[in-house]
Amino acid sequence: MGTMDLLVWGIGQLATPLGSRARAGKEQGQVQVLKEAYVHVQGGYVAEVGRGKPSRINCPVLDVEGRAVTPGLVDPHTHAVFAGHRVQEFWARGRGEKYTGGGILTTVRATREASLQDLVGGAKARLLRMLGQGTTTMEIKSGYGLSLEEELKILRAVRALQGEVPMGLVPTLMAAHAFPPELSREAYVRTIVEDIVPAAAGEGLARFCDVFCDQGFFSVEEARAVLQAARAHGLGLKVHADELAPVGAAELAGELSAISAEHLLHVSPAGIEALARAQTVAVLLPATALVSSLPYPPARDLIGAGVPVALGTDFNPGSSPVASMPLVMSLAALKLRMSPEEVLCAATLNAAAALGLAHEIGSVEVGKKADLVVWDASSFEEIPYWIGQNLAWAVLTGGRVVGPPPSPGPDPCAS
Ligand code: NIG
Ligand code: FE
Repeated sequence: MGTMDLLVWGIGQLATPLGSRARAGKEQGQVQVLKEAYVHVQGGYVAEVGRGKPSRINCPVLDVEGRAVTPGLVDPHTHAVFAGHRVQEFWARGRGEKYTGGGILTTVRATREASLQDLVGGAKARLLRMLGQGTTTMEIKSGYGLSLEEELKILRAVRALQGEVPMGLVPTLMAAHAFPPELSREAYVRTIVEDIVPAAAGEGLARFCDVFCDQGFFSVEEARAVLQAARAHGLGLKVHADELAPVGAAELAGELSAISAEHLLHVSPAGIEALARAQTVAVLLPATALVSSLPYPPARDLIGAGVPVALGTDFNPGSSPVASMPLVMSLAALKLRMSPEEVLCAATLNAAAALGLAHEIGSVEVGKKADLVVWDASSFEEIPYWIGQNLAWAVLTGGRVVGPPPSPGPDPCAS
């Protein structure tokens, strides 16, 4: 009996989307809900899902005493490796100053000065906080280095972190996040295409490549050049699309059949059509809209058009110092007008699909990795409802309990 054999039982409600690909349109609103269920884990994978009690028990048991269980949350869009902070920007936003993306270079300066070890140490603490709130797999983008060595330093930090935290980490090269002060635009795009993409792909440091295709940042033509180079080197494609203005970035993502287009606050109708045609996953980041006082993305239009929708935090020190997927799910409910089922699917299976991992994670089904969250709630609909409270009672990755259950203890006022 291996250490990753476990019987999770006493599940009051097991809620999960089903399948190994993104769910779109009406299908995004369908999840399987089982009452009084158990999940049998063998070798870190789900071996059986059933109702009631299994007939034979020959492994350790975790009794969750009637709580709700969902797949581990997947955060498909973060910039979690950085140095320093931008607390002044936060308060400036409170005074009504607009977000323009200009603060990225402040974080670039701090990140360039940090050692690899400092980056790993800082990010590790943040990642463990995310894990404690139910995130079992997350993507991390580079993009605060903006030179060959500095971008590789960030990606090496992600690789080192993989040995430090019990979560799945997916590295994305985002050298095309801003323009470094020391080079012309043309020279930097050339450096990305000729040096940075080949090096990151060659060393196996990135699985995807992302470009900030927006007003004041990379044009559609520049983004196309970077993404074509990335594809030629075997990287999957992602686009930070139409966050600040409708520049045609979603159209580009569709044209190139990118795996995901992200942000989309200003996506055009033609952009929505292009994403639907290519079945590109729309990764929506409502915490960024909240923090940066930007409009919320048109989730209902995207779902109505048949685009699979995922949710992420966009965790970064500027536009979204938000590490909590449950908070993002609350915003999706209230501001994106998504249903409880759509929200759950967006934060699990569709987010996994945005990382090319829907065959492995994102649902509780036989053959998938046993990444689960036990919530201190009786139904999955309560996860977004109790806003700002951490309901994660136990977090499991590969069938191991890795998130410490919060133990508030007895209420001192209760007698
Ligand atoms: O996704 N949009 C571009 N990049 C980040 C912002 C990063 C920052 O402000 O440092 C984003 O919002
Ligand atoms: Fe982002």
